[in-house]
Amino acid sequence: MVKPTTPTTNKWWQSGIIYQIYPLTFADGNGDGTGDLRGIIQRLDYLNDGNPNSETCLGIDAIWLSPINKSPMVDNGYDISDYLDICPVFGTLADFEELLTEAHRRGIKVILDLVVSHTSNQHPWFQASKSSRNNDKADWYLWQDPQPNGQFPNNWLSYFGGTGWTYCAEREQYYFHTFNENQPDLNWQNPAVRQAIHDVIRFWLDKGVDGFRLDASSVYSKDPDFRDNPMKYGSSDKNAYNNQHHLYDKNLPENHQIIQEFRQVIEEYDDRALIGETFIDSRLYDSTIFYGNKNNELHLPFGFEFPFSPWHPGYLQREIEKKELITPAWAWPTQFLDNHDIPRHLSRWIECSLCSHPVSIAKAAAALLLTLRGTPFLYYGQELGMVDNMDIPADRLQDRAVVATETGELPPPRDGARTPMQWDDLPHAGFSFGANVTPWLPVHKNYTEVNVKAELAAPDSILNFYRQLIRVRQGSDALKWGSWKTLVVYPHEQLAYLRETATETVLVLINFAYEKPLKDLIDLELDWQRWTVLLSTRFEAGHVVDLPDNLVPFEVSILNKV
Ligand code: NOJ
Repeated sequence: MVKPTTPTTNKWWQSGIIYQIYPLTFADGNGDGTGDLRGIIQRLDYLNDGNPNSETCLGIDAIWLSPINKSPMVDNGYDISDYLDICPVFGTLADFEELLTEAHRRGIKVILDLVVSHTSNQHPWFQASKSSRNNDKADWYLWQDPQPNGQFPNNWLSYFGGTGWTYCAEREQYYFHTFNENQPDLNWQNPAVRQAIHDVIRFWLDKGVDGFRLDASSVYSKDPDFRDNPMKYGSSDKNAYNNQHHLYDKNLPENHQIIQEFRQVIEEYDDRALIGETFIDSRLYDSTIFYGNKNNELHLPFGFEFPFSPWHPGYLQREIEKKELITPAWAWPTQFLDNHDIPRHLSRWIECSLCSHPVSIAKAAAALLLTLRGTPFLYYGQELGMVDNMDIPADRLQDRAVVATETGELPPPRDGARTPMQWDDLPHAGFSFGANVTPWLPVHKNYTEVNVKAELAAPDSILNFYRQLIRVRQGSDALKWGSWKTLVVYPHEQLAYLRETATETVLVLINFAYEKPLKDLIDLELDWQRWTVLLSTRFEAGHVVDLPDNLVPFEVSILNKV
């Protein structure tokens, strides 16, 4: 169960901390209320100013930009109409090149979102494809005749609601879309499609980008016979998509071939990374398939354990142990709490009994994320303790891609977790650098307290805790590379684990109890009593302490064997 203590390679995407930027709401450089590339450039120093002793920067190693390509924005960029250009909303190719140069100058790698399971229906490829059955792009998408009775070609559904088939009068055929009808799926059986996307990948690698996050990377390939998916017996999920076994429209064997080819393209270049939007199922016994049997697919697959977990030590520990178990020894896990598709973790995890302790929970969650084995991903604003904005008026919602389900019910929009980054207490949280323009989505009303400027100035803030944690992690081989081993067995109200290399041992203690725990943290079976504090909510960093036999409420202590 204990995985090797040293990685086989020493790659930036293994030791680094990756920060996801949602460009529409990170920073507005041109004062039009919508985030853009110039805004990001102006805020790079906050992310990492290149000075290891900086008092003001977060200190992350890479940014992942949600899509910035040309798009009609039906799915806010996840519907691309030109892969080789920047959406004017965000700026120009020259702005992007400047962002790349400025990021690299500070030691920040840049990862782009590669959205190629589908294009926008405005993409010239689709415009050509839909025009007739015999043009040169005719089979670049998934076209099928109606059934003889005029019905949809099969029972495949859209993840965003309703059937996955939309009729096109020009061709008298249906096309398939895993997501919105404006996002037709590409036909990955077609070698010309593969070639075109490889060219896209090379275009951005030639510019110097450091890797890609592959959007919807499990649904590239589809059954060539378009067989019906079987239904899941007894399943009654509100999203009908989840009531099917996706035998024929997801995770097909050919999907691996497609990702292997991406990997080959990536390997024509030095030191680039492939990250997949995978849903590693914790019921799996092995996650090798995501990395490839010969370590020839994704460098980093996402698993959604934490987004789908309650804030509960036993539950979280089970998920961590499962991930340790299913990750092959030669492979590298990822860890994340939040992204642009799900409610922010503090909104998910602060139940009534805990709602007076958001700062403590945010710090405990940060400690968990940044002390586990694997590459941590942060989502913009989580380092401030940003929570979902639940007060967005209906006429200001921007998430238009999801559609009503068969029951007529709309899934909750994703806007709450996409509101503007809270920079300071200027109008709209300084999103437009002082310009008083209405932002794309309304700022959370807590911005006068929860913002970068205020939190940098407050020693005990969530932001300063993240900053310290990041430095502690970067300075510790055990936290970066070491094995993970739990010291407690559920039921316990604390997590206690060791991260170890041959030369370093770090003990991590996280208390979930907000009053005296029912069971004391004793008998950790450690032969070592004296520990140096790396970071703690209880002890002064640098002090030497005895192994605590109990923890104060919400205590986080990261200790180094002296
Ligand atoms: C996954 C992305 O994360 C989500 O935001 C998007 O709507 C779908 N893929 C479709 O591209």
